[in-house]
Amino acid sequence: MRVLVTGATGFIGGSIAVRLRAAGHRVCGLTRTPAKAERLAALGVEPVVGGLDDAEVLTDRAREADAVVNAADSDHRGAVETLIAALAGTGKPLLHTSGSSVVGDGARGETASSTVYGEEILAPGSSWRPEPDKAPRVAIDRLVLDSASAGVRGVVLCNTLIYGNGLGLARDSVQIPALVRQARESGVVRHVGAGRNIWSNVHVADVADLYVLALENAPAGTFHFVESGEAAFLEVTTALARALDLAGPEDWDIESAVAAWGYEPAVYALGSNSRVRGTAERTLGWTPRHRSVVDWIDAEVGHA
Ligand SMILES: NC(=O)c1ccc[n+]([C@@H]2O[C@H](COP(=O)([O-])OP(=O)(O)OC[C@H]3O[C@@H](n4cnc5c(N)ncnc54)[C@H](OP(=O)(O)O)[C@@H]3O)[C@@H](O)[C@H]2O)c1
Repeated sequence: MRVLVTGATGFIGGSIAVRLRAAGHRVCGLTRTPAKAERLAALGVEPVVGGLDDAEVLTDRAREADAVVNAADSDHRGAVETLIAALAGTGKPLLHTSGSSVVGDGARGETASSTVYGEEILAPGSSWRPEPDKAPRVAIDRLVLDSASAGVRGVVLCNTLIYGNGLGLARDSVQIPALVRQARESGVVRHVGAGRNIWSNVHVADVADLYVLALENAPAGTFHFVESGEAAFLEVTTALARALDLAGPEDWDIESAVAAWGYEPAVYALGSNSRVRGTAERTLGWTPRHRSVVDWIDAEVGHA
């Protein structure tokens, strides 16, 4: 297949692009930065220079492709609208990357939630509603799921906390690298509040495998949570302090966390509960090879 990947220079998109190449697919990768085009070419990815707001570039490249993987920005509605319009009536797959902060709560690190969400929350007719901050992201996910009615094989892959080193040009994910940067700068590993909040998680190599499987086999309108384990942030920061040989972990009040990491990262990515269960192992035959973020931190962080 010829696959257009947005975000091909990034952590998720780059990892997917590399896995797609290894599976024998031809990959075109979008980047806004001409200087990164050569680096993409060296990975065997045909570079396309443009941005998510360049409707003409996106439309032309999506129409030339047999499938599109949108991995640049989970919150860019305009790009999703353009891609659906470009693929309408073709039955081609559109794999959209979302993130499980859509179920994030307001725990701010203080409580471990007992609520575990299943994929049915995005099923037609579901009465589930996200926190208002996350409503626009969920509306984009619904647009992709509903694109079946326009003749697009729309699939949403809702990723949890992704750990591991990227397989493409970008090495770092979002949440754990943010904790590591703060710890290295201050000398103290910290989590939001008491670090009791729990997130589901998954290794980036397993994520990339799942995108390849979904591209080949996921039916139109499928919503998948992408997860193969979970951990409380206190477990993550305890492992980081050990791996980095730094002080901590220490509790951090929400105001200081917001000042350091920003509102969305502190409140949702690092401070909320996001516990979900996916069905991809059963429905797509996905076999994740990694199950423990703590094992990964022990083995890889600090030795890089
Ligand atoms: N990492 C995680 O754990 C995780 C989990 C769930 C969801 N997500 C979401 O998934 C998305 C991708 O995450 P990531 O970790 O792969 O991020 P990333 O490493 O920053 O990669 C995103 C890539 O998308 C491209 N991009 C960004 N804005 C663009 C625009 N307006 N037009 C064209 N290209 C654009 C950038 O490429 P150029 O600079 O080369 O153009 C960048 O390399 C984000 O929205 C993130 O919130 C991430």
